[in-house]
Amino acid sequence: MGSVTHGESGLPIQPLYDGSALEGFDAEAKLGTPGRYPFTRGVYPSMYTGRPWTMRQYAGFGTAKESNERYHELVSAGTGGLSVAFDLPTQMGYDSDEAIARGEVGKVGVAIDSIEDMRTLFHGLPMAKVSTSMTINAPASTLLLLYQLVAAEQGIAGDQLTGTIQNDVLKEYIARGTYIYPPKQSLRLISDIFGYCRTEIPRWNTISISGYHMAEAGATPVQEIAFTLANAKEYVRTAIAAGLDVDDFAPRLSFFFVARTTLLEEIAKFRAARRIWARIMRDEFKAKNPKSQMLRFHTQTAGVQLTAQQPEVNLVRVALQGLGAVLGGTQSLHTNSYDEAIALPTQKAARLALRTQQVIAYETDVTSTVDPFAGSYVMESMTDDIEAAALELIRAVEDRGGAVAAIEQGFQKSEIEKSAYRIALEIDNQERTVVGVNKFVLDEEEPYEPLRVDPQIEIDQCERLEALRRERDNDGVERTLDALRAAAGSTGNVLIPMREALRLRATVGEVSHALRDVWGVYVPVDTF
Ligand code: 3HC
Repeated sequence: MGSVTHGESGLPIQPLYDGSALEGFDAEAKLGTPGRYPFTRGVYPSMYTGRPWTMRQYAGFGTAKESNERYHELVSAGTGGLSVAFDLPTQMGYDSDEAIARGEVGKVGVAIDSIEDMRTLFHGLPMAKVSTSMTINAPASTLLLLYQLVAAEQGIAGDQLTGTIQNDVLKEYIARGTYIYPPKQSLRLISDIFGYCRTEIPRWNTISISGYHMAEAGATPVQEIAFTLANAKEYVRTAIAAGLDVDDFAPRLSFFFVARTTLLEEIAKFRAARRIWARIMRDEFKAKNPKSQMLRFHTQTAGVQLTAQQPEVNLVRVALQGLGAVLGGTQSLHTNSYDEAIALPTQKAARLALRTQQVIAYETDVTSTVDPFAGSYVMESMTDDIEAAALELIRAVEDRGGAVAAIEQGFQKSEIEKSAYRIALEIDNQERTVVGVNKFVLDEEEPYEPLRVDPQIEIDQCERLEALRRERDNDGVERTLDALRAAAGSTGNVLIPMREALRLRATVGEVSHALRDVWGVYVPVDTF
């Protein structure tokens, strides 16, 4: 018999689990049935036997036109939902022609400056049928309104639209970095979005509370779910304090996690996260609607575990990671392209990534039965262990005054940095094997031709902006931006004047600057 090892979260993994591991295990309380509280076994009674997860490949680069073409390709290759990647200037609320945007336009995603770009982005795509996720945080309200305005032009009403905005600014302060305003104002904006969507776009998932980026920054599985759920608690508290009823907005909260190659711990993590959230919502926030207690989540395979060396090996890693997400009951999945550690995915790599999900869905038997690991000695033990450790860490955040106070003290960031440091050391010392990197290394790597973004894109995008500013009703734009500033300075919902400004072709940058004028910008503290 081997010895006890430790998982990614540092929790022990026994070389053998037997019946003694589950002595006194209360299956009714801990598992229940799928689709019922506490949702450990999955959020829907039939899970994939009723409907497979949404295959949702994150994509977008260059101009709206090029990204639109990629979306058409993905839809015809069989993807079930869209997922828009925006470039950094858009994510930070700057226009393509601002000095700060130089060199970044269209690089890590598509450049969207105004309603005109949004129109091009969704040209010919069935907005009433396909659900669209947009990875946008500080300017989430702006991009959502642009989406709604473009759909309205196609005759599609808000109540027909389905999709998700990431809109999770707290994790931006902790791990990802695309914040604009200070936490208090960001939370107010998020509550405004919850309030707006309740009546205007009721089927929209108003936030995707994300552990993924913390995991990419080095968080362990326990840290990933604990810090994510602690952030989620903060959002719920803020919305309730703003006067919303918990059951009016909580059914549309969604989550986003990573899937690593450590399959067993990941499956346990997903199951534990569902159970913890159900209990928090029912017992702490008194949510009565079962949908408010359901932790629905998107998963992306772990980008950080992909290697630039022998990149084809990444196909194997991604298949295992995707399998873990499915066994853990994900609602939506992005499988990374094997070349993602090197550059933007080529078309072939993007198609292979989608094919990986299709093999899991249609060639394996894991979709034939719900939560296949339920009752397994190891799985239930690991689920319990992760749950206990995550609850302890959530408590540590709450003891510091909640997620925002803990962020201001640099707590989550420094805990994650410590984990990242530990992993780096383990790889260096060869305690942790990374195939092709510190073991099974090739003397000579095969050359690889990455996809590059054409610098002409930036020039073209700036020219289009110049034309837009020449042609539009600039007095109207100014007037509506003033109304937006006034709403930001009072308690009115800022999305109403913002929508009007965008309709008159105010740009993403102008709208964000108007809010900056009133709310200021966040300056981070550094503790590490
Ligand atoms: N039985 C009955 N109904 C079922 C069912 C079943 N077995 N399975 C699904 N359904 C129903 C659902 O109830 C739902 O109907 P509703 O809208 O009326 O409630 C419908 O079918 C769609 O199912 P889901 O809601 O489960 O799936 P979606 O795909 O629509 O939504 C989500 C999933 C997780 C809730 C949503 O928030 C989502 O799609 N998120 C995606 C987020 C994303 O793509 N993020 C990308 C991030 S990339 C990034 O951050 C970039 C970088 O920095 C890494």
